[in-house]
Amino acid sequence: MKNKLSVIIGSTRPGRAGVPVAKWVYSEAVSHGAFDVELLDLAEFGLPLLDEPKHPRLQQYEHEHTKRWSKAIGAADAFLFVTPEYDYFTSAALVNALQFLSIEWRYKAAGVVSYGGISGGLRASQELRQLIGNLNMMAIPQTVPVPFFTKFISDEKIFAPEPPVKEGLTLALDELTKWSGALKSLRTE
Ligand SMILES: Cc1cc2nc3c(=O)[nH]c(=O)nc-3n(C[C@H](O)[C@H](O)[C@H](O)COP(=O)(O)O)c2cc1C
Repeated sequence: MKNKLSVIIGSTRPGRAGVPVAKWVYSEAVSHGAFDVELLDLAEFGLPLLDEPKHPRLQQYEHEHTKRWSKAIGAADAFLFVTPEYDYFTSAALVNALQFLSIEWRYKAAGVVSYGGISGGLRASQELRQLIGNLNMMAIPQTVPVPFFTKFISDEKIFAPEPPVKEGLTLALDELTKWSGALKSLRTE
């Protein structure tokens, strides 16, 4: 059985521009072949600002939105976060969604695809890697920055990046394959 990879759309803004990037990440991950792949859109989960009274590691959730989010994340073996860069940081929505849970994240491999202007969201990516590491995920160093990402989105909203971006994502998927396999034993102990 293949490991499950969840690609997470990190922008929830009305009019957000990054969805085609996430859809491309999803389709590349499917073509890569190592994972069963799912695309999770944070906007569809509708998480409010963290409103659970108990620490997430107790997993005693009061709210349906948390239970639904917990189930989705608990089912995954690895993650690819697709993040915008806001003020050199990842999105507040993604930080919030990460902090809703604890056990569901741990001992899983995680990569980051970032997009933005000239930096390709690299600063957001580094900040996000720190948080996902603090949640006990293995934050792989093979991040995939996409500079000037809107230049590669067609009128039909199809994202088609230059070869180095595609090669970078393949490398990240190869690493996630190795790490998600290796970490599985930690989760079954
Ligand atoms: C509040 C805010 C802060 C931003 N800060 C940055 C930034 O630090 N670096 C950058 O490259 N782009 C920045 N941008 C531009 C974003 O890259 C651009 O708006 C992009 O479309 C955001 O992704 P989204 O549309 O999927 O939410 C910022 C945009 C917003 C709305």
